[in-house]
Amino acid sequence: MRPELPIVTERLVLRPFRPDDFAAAHDYMRREDVARFEFWNATTPDETRQKIDEWIATDPDWPTGDRLVLAVTLHDGGAMIGDCVLSFRDREALQAEIGYTLHPDWHRKGIATEASEALLAVAFSTYELHRVYGRCDARNVGSWRVLEKLGMRREAHFREHAIFKGEWDEEFYYAILKDEWLAQRGRN
Ligand SMILES: CC(C)(COP(=O)(O)OP(=O)(O)OC[C@H]1O[C@@H](n2cnc3c(N)ncnc32)[C@H](O)[C@@H]1OP(=O)(O)O)[C@@H](O)C(=O)NCCC(=O)NCCS
Repeated sequence: MRPELPIVTERLVLRPFRPDDFAAAHDYMRREDVARFEFWNATTPDETRQKIDEWIATDPDWPTGDRLVLAVTLHDGGAMIGDCVLSFRDREALQAEIGYTLHPDWHRKGIATEASEALLAVAFSTYELHRVYGRCDARNVGSWRVLEKLGMRREAHFREHAIFKGEWDEEFYYAILKDEWLAQRGRN
């Protein structure tokens, strides 16, 4: 089972990655400020190419695949400004994790929220998952605000539970169940 692509939202076209996305992807992935709270570090050109190759090779078929990873592009002009991902985590319990990264020129315009809302719809309507969760560093306000805007509940705040990039890590876990998502859609 896989979604029909591309996914079109009000301002965005979410589509599979292509080799010619390299320049636009490297433009944000090479930046320390973008990578600060990611599990990866700012990339070299070779590392960016490797990531794009991995993303092109991903299999978005549930339950046999690994994840749905999509380039975030603008309707208007088609520029590629980021990526978003739904990673399959537990096939028996029907769980997935959501993630997103955008070029800083496009932060704080509601883009991550808009892309993630589309991913949640795929998670629950197409893949028929039971629960979607997101995790982020507590200092990454933009990231946990996106998770809250999706209607997720804060399930955990892990304090100084790990060392992340040389510092104590404070991690939030957020999640939403399919029933909660359906109820929220009913209200809206
Ligand atoms: C996290 C990230 C994807 C957020 O994307 P975004 O498109 O700016 O998020 P949105 O515009 O949808 O914002 C959602 C809410 O968070 C708020 N917000 C966004 N960035 C913020 C920041 N740096 N500080 C405080 N609030 C912020 C927005 O104002 C909005 O709230 P509002 O509607 O009440 O005003 C973006 O900052 C990013 O790409 N960061 C670098 C990569 C990263 O850290 N990814 C997540 C790893 S867990």
